[in-house]
Amino acid sequence: MNILITGATSGIGYQLAVDYCQAGHKVYAIGRNKEALTQLTQQGVEAVDLDLTDYKTVKSALSQLPPLQLVILGAGICQYHDYHHFDGQSFANVVNVNLASLGYVLEAIWLKMDSPSQLAMIGSLARYLPFTRSGAYSASKAGIRQLANVLRTDLEPRQVSVHLIEPGFIETPMTKDNDFKMPFLLSVHDASKFITQGLAKKRSHIAFPWQLHLILSGLAKLPMSWQNTICRKLAKRAE
Ligand SMILES: NC(=O)c1ccc[n+]([C@@H]2O[C@H](COP(=O)([O-])OP(=O)(O)OC[C@H]3O[C@@H](n4cnc5c(N)ncnc54)[C@H](OP(=O)(O)O)[C@@H]3O)[C@@H](O)[C@H]2O)c1
Repeated sequence: MNILITGATSGIGYQLAVDYCQAGHKVYAIGRNKEALTQLTQQGVEAVDLDLTDYKTVKSALSQLPPLQLVILGAGICQYHDYHHFDGQSFANVVNVNLASLGYVLEAIWLKMDSPSQLAMIGSLARYLPFTRSGAYSASKAGIRQLANVLRTDLEPRQVSVHLIEPGFIETPMTKDNDFKMPFLLSVHDASKFITQGLAKKRSHIAFPWQLHLILSGLAKLPMSWQNTICRKLAKRAE
């Protein structure tokens, strides 16, 4: 397969790029970190230095790609916003990288998706509950869920299957500074295994670990006022 992975210079995306490459696929890996791009190239991955928030560059760089059988949109950032201070630029930056830039990539690869092919997007289990300080991140991940669901309707006639990937806590640079306990924390190797196996089985929703998914999706069925109270209590406990 020809595979395009964004967010491939670190964490989950990096592991996916290496694993798919070792399995014999042609992998196009996107990110900006030069050191990581060089390491990927040394492992046989086609590394593309690209800022996904730059519309024109995304369009021209991705226009060079051959037909694709699998696309994994995994680039993302997480910034928390304090109750005492709201940083609008940081909010816009998170939404821009995590959600708006997907539009740039989708435009560039729209007609490159083979029939059949797979389009996967990495959201987060965080979108289930109104966790404190996570407004920008959570909103962007809820947006990804809805985008994936809509595109599944749109792209079915073209035989492009759409997959929503929702991880729990994974040990990556994104989570290394988290100042709270991360339940059911998984390694990038576990994450890559869940994702590659889920995509091979053509699962439309790949959520892991199952324990955290069960708890969060169950709590999300409670009235919103209860969810708000639970999240406030969790935040107090973490202080
Ligand atoms: N780790 C977790 O616990 C967890 C849980 C649920 C969901 N997720 C989601 O999983 C995905 C991967 O997370 P991770 O933990 O592996 O994160 P990570 O290690 O911090 O990697 C983030 C990736 O996004 C890329 N990126 C960020 N901004 C970019 C930009 N403007 N242009 C191009 N690339 C950009 C980074 O590349 P450069 O810096 O090289 O540009 C890097 O490759 C994210 O969407 C994240 O929200 C993670």
